[in-house]
Amino acid sequence: METDEKLDKAIARHQEGDLDGAGAVYEAILKDDPENHRALSASAILAHQRGKSDEAIGLLERAIAAAPTEAGYHNNLGNIYRRKARPEKALECYRKAAALEPTNVETLCNVGSLCRRLSLNEDAREIFETVKKLAPDHPETNHNLALVYASLDMEKEALDCIEACHAEGVPRELVPTYHARVLTRFGRRDAAIALLERCLAARPDDPEISYELTAMKGELGARAPDDYVRKHFDGFAEGFDSQLASLDYSAPKLVGDLATTLIGEHKLRLILDLGCGTGLVGPYLRPLCEQLVGVDLSRGMLRFAEARKIYDDLVEMELTQALQEAPERAFDLATAADTLCYFGDLGGVFTGLARALRPGGAFIGTVEWHEGDEGPKILDSGRYSHSEAYVQATAESAGLAMRIAQIHDLRMEFGFPVKGLVFALENPAGH
Ligand SMILES: C[S@@+](CC[C@H](N)C(=O)[O-])C[C@H]1O[C@@H](n2cnc3c(N)ncnc32)[C@H](O)[C@@H]1O
Repeated sequence: METDEKLDKAIARHQEGDLDGAGAVYEAILKDDPENHRALSASAILAHQRGKSDEAIGLLERAIAAAPTEAGYHNNLGNIYRRKARPEKALECYRKAAALEPTNVETLCNVGSLCRRLSLNEDAREIFETVKKLAPDHPETNHNLALVYASLDMEKEALDCIEACHAEGVPRELVPTYHARVLTRFGRRDAAIALLERCLAARPDDPEISYELTAMKGELGARAPDDYVRKHFDGFAEGFDSQLASLDYSAPKLVGDLATTLIGEHKLRLILDLGCGTGLVGPYLRPLCEQLVGVDLSRGMLRFAEARKIYDDLVEMELTQALQEAPERAFDLATAADTLCYFGDLGGVFTGLARALRPGGAFIGTVEWHEGDEGPKILDSGRYSHSEAYVQATAESAGLAMRIAQIHDLRMEFGFPVKGLVFALENPAGH
């Protein structure tokens, strides 16, 4: 049998799930012909399926060296880098694939959507405008263009694209909560609520639609539901760092700087970073302690934190549960940058902290801030805001003392700064 015929049969077995059988044939072919690019590419897919992504990258690089004009190899390499939480590398590969296949809608969409997630809005616009000429009704293209136009303040174009997305009913694969946010961003709150209601009727089990609709209607819950947080942040993880950098996101630095000031030269034993996300606070905390642990509900966010190699341990868990289950008085310091804004009632978190912090231990966190002394408010974004008086009173009820409270800009939202309260609580030594 010719090599190509053998390979075709092995690839068919591979697709039917016989990984070992297919792998043995690829190996035999590569033994005789080490640079056979089809066998290298198929072996790469196999290695990736077996969780050996570094081996898969090496094999694909060899396949590309042997057949540099095969767009699919560049694309597959991009997919692997994406799963390895390396979006910039993935983008390089997708761009090479698109240069080889300039009219392939799927290939162009890979480039465009990654550009958008990385806040390269002008690049994303150019690519999706090209795709729209090739496939005017392509839902993913209209979805991405709507978000890109909104970021570029192009109201009419953004609204037209949202309409195009929903022309055939509620789009299955897209996240319509982003469309509602675009509508509110252009002052069309009623239209946003109506859109979310229509979407919820079509997708009643979708936690993002259901929660963002309750938030937009002003219904105050104790905190954002766990399934919402997971789905929202899993979907947001890849572009989180770059999107927030483009919004002057300063919560990690504010928390990190306050921790450095409070702790000084003295090195702590154990710090817990609550809602650690992709790990942006980690680099500030690492020099301050012997051990750094992160907790987060979103596996997608934790994958990026893992790739930083800064935390000693990363735990996928709801944070109040983590505080309740941790050994009593275990932590010297706990932090939560831009995480308590997903809680309305802070009582459970503060009670958990009073239990999990050692006497004399501290907590440093941020909340989105509103003036006055009212209780928590729910915002259209699905986040909550808190007054300083509420934070202080709730902390005191849990047995914690407010030591520092400062108002800062946390980030920009639709061109305006979001005011935040950056605060430090202490677990009194005699507690
Ligand atoms: C805006 S991000 C901030 C991440 C990180 N602290 C930073 O400053 O970059 C909020 C994070 O809190 C996490 N989160 C929200 N509610 C949570 C909860 N109840 N338990 C654990 N993690 C939660 C989310 O998954 C997300 O990763």
